Amino acid sequence: MKQDEAEKRIKQLRKLINEYDYYYYVIAQPKISDYQYDMLMKELIELERQYPQFSDPNSPSARVGNDHDQSFEQAPHDYPMLSLNNTYSPEELLEFDQRIRKTLSEPFEYVCELKFDGVSINLKYKNGKLIQAVTRGDGTKGDIVTDNVKTIRAVPLVLRGDDYPEQFEARGEIIMPHNSFHRLNEQRKEQGLSEFANPRNAAAGSLKLQNSAEVAKRGLDNFIYYIIGDKLPSDSHFENLQKARQWGFRISKHIKKVNDLRGVFDFIEYWERERKNLPFDIDGAVIKIDSIRQRKILGETAKAPRWAIAYKFKAERVSTRLLSVDFQVGRTGVITPVANLEPVHLAGTIVKRASLHNADIIKDLDLHYNDYVYVEKGGEIIPKIVGVDKSKRKPDARPVEFITHCPACGTLLVRDPDEAAHYCPNTWGCPPQIIGRIEHFVSRKAMDILMGEATIKQLYDAGLVKNVADLYDLRYQDLIKLERFADKSVKNLLESIEKSKQVPFQRVIFALGIRYVGETVARVLARHFKDIDHLRQASYDQLVAIDEIGDKIAQSIVEFFADERNMEIIERLKKAGVNMKATEETAPQVLQGMSLVVTGNFGTPERRKKIEQLIELYGGKKASSVSSKINYIIAGEKPGTSKMQKAKQLGIPIISVQDFLKMIGRTSIDE
Ligand code: IVH
Repeated sequence: MKQDEAEKRIKQLRKLINEYDYYYYVIAQPKISDYQYDMLMKELIELERQYPQFSDPNSPSARVGNDHDQSFEQAPHDYPMLSLNNTYSPEELLEFDQRIRKTLSEPFEYVCELKFDGVSINLKYKNGKLIQAVTRGDGTKGDIVTDNVKTIRAVPLVLRGDDYPEQFEARGEIIMPHNSFHRLNEQRKEQGLSEFANPRNAAAGSLKLQNSAEVAKRGLDNFIYYIIGDKLPSDSHFENLQKARQWGFRISKHIKKVNDLRGVFDFIEYWERERKNLPFDIDGAVIKIDSIRQRKILGETAKAPRWAIAYKFKAERVSTRLLSVDFQVGRTGVITPVANLEPVHLAGTIVKRASLHNADIIKDLDLHYNDYVYVEKGGEIIPKIVGVDKSKRKPDARPVEFITHCPACGTLLVRDPDEAAHYCPNTWGCPPQIIGRIEHFVSRKAMDILMGEATIKQLYDAGLVKNVADLYDLRYQDLIKLERFADKSVKNLLESIEKSKQVPFQRVIFALGIRYVGETVARVLARHFKDIDHLRQASYDQLVAIDEIGDKIAQSIVEFFADERNMEIIERLKKAGVNMKATEETAPQVLQGMSLVVTGNFGTPERRKKIEQLIELYGGKKASSVSSKINYIIAGEKPGTSKMQKAKQLGIPIISVQDFLKMIGRTSIDE
């Protein structure tokens, strides 16, 4: 293809794709099939690759993202991003209405909108093009997330028509619809990653991903609820939003202009009922004065405008029947009761189970089998039972009683007098505890051995692994005999076990699964005691003398090491070559989040290398080129001139090796 033809075709493709995006994402009337769309996009990407001279940051090809590493720079908001005053009660809405009537003393109208539960975003447009997308941040400045936002199809990169203001900001919410949220969590579960608790967290996490090509896969969406600028088409907020829809923004259909509080209450009541049928989360309604002129009269406080208020819905609650209660045994022996429920829709998911936490909660609820219970979804993934509809209880209903014996091994349960939890004391003979400890040991944040639940169970059932030390005795000959194990999978497993011997000492402590010793306490212990022998000899008094260690943790550590069976496992781990000493990796992470560039001569190449190692050891990143992301330049003799020039231009501090050593609290490179 000739250059001019290519240019023509590129322009044509961009126009077509923008057009189809609008029909698909904004007004939900697709004009072509997904396949046809993908073909057009492919053609465009290929042409832009061949003819980079025609590239354009606002081409729809930006929708697929890129894999440039981006740490977010900040930008100020031209108009501060305020928050909203919240209310849960109709009385407060009445007061809001009265205040407005008093100040305005002229007719006015309200606009009622959905309160989208996501992350707010500020989109800056100039001459019809998206130039920057910034998060709310602290309200005066936020993170620039333009590349990530460009992947969201509902966000127009180039506006339609020609009657938009030359410069303005479109504010709205980035949300993750339910279907994207479920798909993402399914994938994460399969990959052994932690699931997002709710779509809001998932949207926030996705928006801050480093790689926009990843963001593109997350299925985010966007609604615009506010247009700000000096030359808006109308004095009416409602009209401006209708115009904005024509320019290509996604504006919710569920927006209503009303004359008085009656209309406001109708809107709220309707959506409190109907929210469950929306494909995304809302957490309330927002009531705004329509006229921009009147908004100016009402003004704003430092925190929120006086012309708007958010009415928050109560957490969504449904009623369903309790079928049965399972009692699960965790790795520390704690018994968790879990309710099995008749499946019911709640806030976009189907709920079948709910945690009951402990015996006290069951007692407080006065829970009976077959009860109709109220289920609510808080911030957690697992919903809660918050009450019982006693009016529906049959007279012969049986109360739910906490079990007295372990459901797995039959041992009599004990209850810690200070705690609500019951636990099974058969630490060494109760299968779910044994398997749970191995699962914890191999987990990503502990030894990071690549084996799933099913494999652990298989190895346990085959009698090959009964405790964590047995993992290091596994031989090729034993594993290859097992079902589902092939040459490659055996080798991978053995390799992963071998690699785990290098895991830093703090993670080994965490992996041991000492009750109350989480990642943070493990790090403290590693730093303080340096190796396993000092740790295991530590007395209760020595332990509680450490800042972060309280009575319960200290006692649990002493008990753990007093048990000979634990000591035997530790001896075997040590013999196998597992790292039982704190290396320098436990150095204080004072450079965490910083990027440093090393330039010039430092005597010998080894010394330069050592400096680079120290950067990483103390939690920093070493970078090779100077950009605004760099925090410090460590300059030796004859530093690179272009690097130094650029650093000065960008105002990046240039420091000597001595300054650097001071920063990390060392006196020399080799100490
Ligand atoms: S208007 C100055 N309208 O709620 C007023 N906000 O709690 C600007 N939100 O940060 C906000 N839906 O992220 C407005 N229809 C809506 C909204 C909405 C969700 C969010 C927004 C804001 C937060 C305040």
